[in-house]
Amino acid sequence: MGDVVRGKSLFIRMCQMCHTSDPNGKHRVGPNLFGVVGKTCGSKYSHSGFNYTESMRTKGIVWNESTLNTYLEFPMKFIPGTRMVFNGIRKEQDRKDIIAYLATLK
Ligand code: HEC
Repeated sequence: MGDVVRGKSLFIRMCQMCHTSDPNGKHRVGPNLFGVVGKTCGSKYSHSGFNYTESMRTKGIVWNESTLNTYLEFPMKFIPGTRMVFNGIRKEQDRKDIIAYLATLK
């Protein structure tokens, strides 16, 4: 089980410069991530569009614990061509905690 409180602080440190997480939050360099768990990757949010790369739009997977875990370990390996310039998180527990936090964004 991931630790939501720890996941939130990791998110603030590693993701928030590019992603907001509040309902109807603005897109930054990356899309707002409210409601991301259960969403098809690269699909448009209802509140406003984000200009995803073709790689992200055509990957065709749903974000869940398993796909997020693979993505967050090596983003550019799982989705070659993604514009998310992020090296990835090597520590499994860190990924678990962040994913537990993402799952609360609904
Ligand atoms: C340097 C900026 C940057 C950082 C840091 C970053 N991201 Fe991203 N992220 C992006 C961009 C840009 C995209 C859109 C990529 C594309 O269209 O190929 C994205 C896309 C995503 C998506 C897919 C969203 C969707 O709507 O399908 C997820 C999930 C995600 N990021 C999670 C994270 C998490 C969690 C972190 C922190 C561990 C993080 N990102 C760190 C820029 C960033």
